[in-house]
Amino acid sequence: MVGFVRTLVAITLLVSVYSVAGTTRHYEFNIQLQNVTRLCHTRSMVTVNGKFPGPRIVAREGDCLLIKVTNNVSNNITIHWHGIRQLRSGWADGPAYVTQCPIQTGQSYVYNYTVIGQRGTLFWHAHISWLRASLYGPLIILPKLSVPYPFTKPYKEVPIIFGEWFNTDPEAIIAQATQTGGGPNVSDAYTFNGLPGPFYNCSAKDTLKLKVKHAKTYLLRLINAALNDELFFSIANHTLTVVEADAIYTKPFDTETLILAPGQTTNVLLKTKLKFPGANFVMSARPYVTGQGTFDNSTVAGILEYESSIHMKNLPLFKPALPPLNDTSFVTQFSNRLRSLASAQFPANVPQKIDRHLFFTVGLGTSPCEKNKTCQGPNGTRFAASINNVSFVQPSVALLQSHYSGQSEGVYSPYFPITPFHWFNYTGTPPNNTFVSNGTKLMVLPFNTSVELVLQDTSILGVESHPLHLHGFNFFVVGQGFGNYDPNKDPKNFNLVDPIERNTVGVPSGGWVAIRFLADNPGVWFMHCHLEVHTSWGLKMAWLVLDGKLPNQKLLPPPVDLPKC
Ligand code: C2O
Repeated sequence: MVGFVRTLVAITLLVSVYSVAGTTRHYEFNIQLQNVTRLCHTRSMVTVNGKFPGPRIVAREGDCLLIKVTNNVSNNITIHWHGIRQLRSGWADGPAYVTQCPIQTGQSYVYNYTVIGQRGTLFWHAHISWLRASLYGPLIILPKLSVPYPFTKPYKEVPIIFGEWFNTDPEAIIAQATQTGGGPNVSDAYTFNGLPGPFYNCSAKDTLKLKVKHAKTYLLRLINAALNDELFFSIANHTLTVVEADAIYTKPFDTETLILAPGQTTNVLLKTKLKFPGANFVMSARPYVTGQGTFDNSTVAGILEYESSIHMKNLPLFKPALPPLNDTSFVTQFSNRLRSLASAQFPANVPQKIDRHLFFTVGLGTSPCEKNKTCQGPNGTRFAASINNVSFVQPSVALLQSHYSGQSEGVYSPYFPITPFHWFNYTGTPPNNTFVSNGTKLMVLPFNTSVELVLQDTSILGVESHPLHLHGFNFFVVGQGFGNYDPNKDPKNFNLVDPIERNTVGVPSGGWVAIRFLADNPGVWFMHCHLEVHTSWGLKMAWLVLDGKLPNQKLLPPPVDLPKC
């Protein structure tokens, strides 16, 4: 009896400790086909639980998430929790052949991770081939219970996830492009929460309606889950206050228009009009385009409706003015306004002393066409893309597994170049030889290395903005500029006080960006352009962060159900 009571007390204590530490939340993701119709085209698409976009995941900072993914389709599947740091839990990160082998048909895998030191809006998406075109959804991290936001408490919170709709199967589109070496077909529409809106044929009924009350503050959780396009976003006659980016609080600032690259998320406050305005307001998004290729130049729209107007007919409808499609100066100004909140409670821990200075060029290139074949890339070659002229070759086993089991021989090289092999005028006249080299190379870092990385765009096949995404870390964007980075002059202008901290940054078109991060998370971490077409062409690489000495500085062992290749 005494023993029983003791156990009971012990259990009660344990439970109360855990409730302070956070709770465990279970989700089931059944990957299944579902017919979805947009623009009068019906497609059977790969979905989570038959939903497009997929279900919302909501957790609090400190919670443990157990998400069981069961694959009921013929494609291989992995899911990535974009922006989650995955401290020591790299096995749950998701990029196919980087941290795990894909989940095969009929198999399942439980993604198991704890959300530590993060709060805000992120998203999840498939991380294999182009399946994230339909496999994506919001991932919302609320602050710990009874911890307030550092801004006005919103009356309501609304996620708006931007996506791309294709009338044909995106898997067929990328398969064909890989076959021919040419550029893939572009999407047929952009969407808000899966809905293209009234500016497309046969689409008026598929319009996002945001019904609001007057004189309230709404928190819009904006997510760009599009495959290949950076998007401008604006709501007619309303100013938005940016308060968070990539799940990091920012210094608040007002803007009419935002730019979001694929992989970026932003929380904004929308203060509705004090009185019923007697009008409806369009919110819309369309692309920011810097590249040379074809693109989807259409506009997605939703409607902001004030509650008392819902049954009123023929109200005026205001439309926002979005920047021109190539408005780089708007993008530059906007990104210069983004600053970390950098408060006592939410400090910006910018690495001040740097162990490793790295310089990576990012951009397009070509690969030779196979003999006796005709290719549809530039001058009969194949399109390629690279980092430091290494176009990443996807291995057939997972990098993290081969590292952990000590069987990396023949899988990857640990010598990713710290600078380009040949210097050239990166943003000037491009070299005649545009061929990339190929390899599976990793940048190896000892635990707790502080890194400064300059990402330099190249003019090979045209300058272009590249949203680079780093897994496993947030980084600080300490500087950016146009032309070639100057290691003597440019660091003098770095912001080491309150730079924005994020997981995805646009390398300016024809320019460079400098980021800093502390490699305090052991594992293999993917870094790639979040324009999926560029990832397909090889604009990706991986970091290997080694274990530290202390027990809590080591990668945890792999889960027993980790899929096999
Ligand atoms: Cu959101 Cu590696 O991607």
